[in-house]
Amino acid sequence: MEAPDWWRDAVVYQIYPVSFKDTTGNGKGDLNGITSKLPYLKDLGVEVVWLSPVYASPMVDMGYDISNYREIHPDFGTMEDWERMTKEAHRIGLKVVMDLVVNHTSDQHEWFQDAKDGGSKKDWYIWRGKNKEGKEPNNWGAIFGGSCWEWNDKLKEYYLHVFDVSQPDLNWENPAVRDAVWDVMRFWLDKGCDGFRMDVINCISKTPGFPDAPVADPQSMYQYGLIHRFNGPKVADYLLEMHDKVLQYYPNAFTVGEAPGVKSAEQALPLVQNGVPLQMLFHFEHMYIDHQPGKTCFNYKPWKLTELKDVLGKFMEFNEANGGWDSLYLENHDQPRIISRWANDGKYRDASAKMLAIFHATGRGTLFIYQGQEIGMANPAAWTFDELRDLEEIQYYKAIEASNGDTKDALKQIQRIGRDNSRTPMQWSADTNAGFTSGTPWIKVNQDYEEWNVEAEQASSDISVLKFWKSLLTIRKDHNGLVRGAFQMIDYENQSVYAYTRRNATEQYLVVCSFSEEEVKWVCPVNRGNLLLGNYPSQEIEEDDTLTLRPYEGRLYYLPAMQHL
Ligand code: GLC
Repeated sequence: MEAPDWWRDAVVYQIYPVSFKDTTGNGKGDLNGITSKLPYLKDLGVEVVWLSPVYASPMVDMGYDISNYREIHPDFGTMEDWERMTKEAHRIGLKVVMDLVVNHTSDQHEWFQDAKDGGSKKDWYIWRGKNKEGKEPNNWGAIFGGSCWEWNDKLKEYYLHVFDVSQPDLNWENPAVRDAVWDVMRFWLDKGCDGFRMDVINCISKTPGFPDAPVADPQSMYQYGLIHRFNGPKVADYLLEMHDKVLQYYPNAFTVGEAPGVKSAEQALPLVQNGVPLQMLFHFEHMYIDHQPGKTCFNYKPWKLTELKDVLGKFMEFNEANGGWDSLYLENHDQPRIISRWANDGKYRDASAKMLAIFHATGRGTLFIYQGQEIGMANPAAWTFDELRDLEEIQYYKAIEASNGDTKDALKQIQRIGRDNSRTPMQWSADTNAGFTSGTPWIKVNQDYEEWNVEAEQASSDISVLKFWKSLLTIRKDHNGLVRGAFQMIDYENQSVYAYTRRNATEQYLVVCSFSEEEVKWVCPVNRGNLLLGNYPSQEIEEDDTLTLRPYEGRLYYLPAMQHL
């Protein structure tokens, strides 16, 4: 029988279906493509696959704008394809987690079509009249640009959209909306889906009274009100209701809530304590260390390793002491490739990918790998405006252009941080289009696919990034202290080396990761024991306690005896 908290040990693999594997030649990935690759995922060592949305959608925001929660978008196939995929996944011991996008719908959803004409579902969305000056009800900006409010001339009111104008927010205050969401969840769980990743779930309750946000900097216009659009007072109540009405009847279901703006583990705790109402959250604090505060991701800020330790280390230490649990992710469909972002995707690409793999897989939490991360995929070298597909990037570029800003720099920022970087097709082989499609891919293939692809890395006589990931996942399975054990940082002040121990009653590990491009000398404060895995082919013999770490070197040691630090 499955342990009730099986999800703590799970390795989850996120699939971005449109870029995973195309079987029809239309240039877009599909469900049958996923089915064909399930053995690959099983062999890699994952237990759960999470699919970004495959529902009916006008695809303005790549499926995060759903027009029917109970239908599959024809680009991805049919409901029968979904059933076949899920059956096959279950047969080989994989679980299937779906994306639940219920903060908002598409404006093409029949609920909104009815609401916008003043029908019986009007109160399923959020409407307000003009303010005293005859303008928008407040100064909140939408995440994808412009105001959060859109005027409806028939109803003489604005509706609220935290994201794009085509993504109206559902009114969670209305019990009928909540019941409809519970129905959608039961529909999928009853069909055999094993749980949900819940899109921007801390956005379902906003600050009561919808107050204006402080206006700081016109540059950050579209961030105005961020604080008021997330973490409203009823998030926990709604999720507890979700638990009472739905999740408690599916005790093995997997749940992770996306929660931008949850700043600390203390704040997250009421949502995840001992797995209720959710098992874990995706917070964003480590993803924000390279953003200027209060601005968008396109505004770069240099960062220090201690800032990263401040976030991840503190989340892990607090959760452990208080019954919380972390999700471990470094990439997803909204973030660039991590080796390009935090390390070196040129000269030290192999070392960077493996060091970050050690760092990622030895944290305390449930592990999420994003498609392509396991082969060391990197950001494409450059983007032209015509190659962009993501509305956030396109709107950012157009805003810069409209203000006579530097559009070359805009493309540079997009190459650094934009969402299309991780949405390029999965690189299966050195064949045309990386073996992703026989047609024209919907988004360009990364120029490096002939060298960096699954087939080459499987065939390589060296330890490729893919083989390294496989060993790491095997080690993680065989050494539960690395998953559930206590986490403790060492040498916290160090700006080049991120080091920590993991331990339970019987096992102790030491992880040492250099984030430096230079060689670093590091004095190890503990007896470091035996090397379980390292990312350089041969380890130097080091007899004293000073380690010489090569660029982006990562090491995982097994400590023979318990030591008190
Ligand atoms: C989440 C999704 C992102 C989407 C947004 C609006 O952050 O991950 O892709 O654009 O929500 O649904």
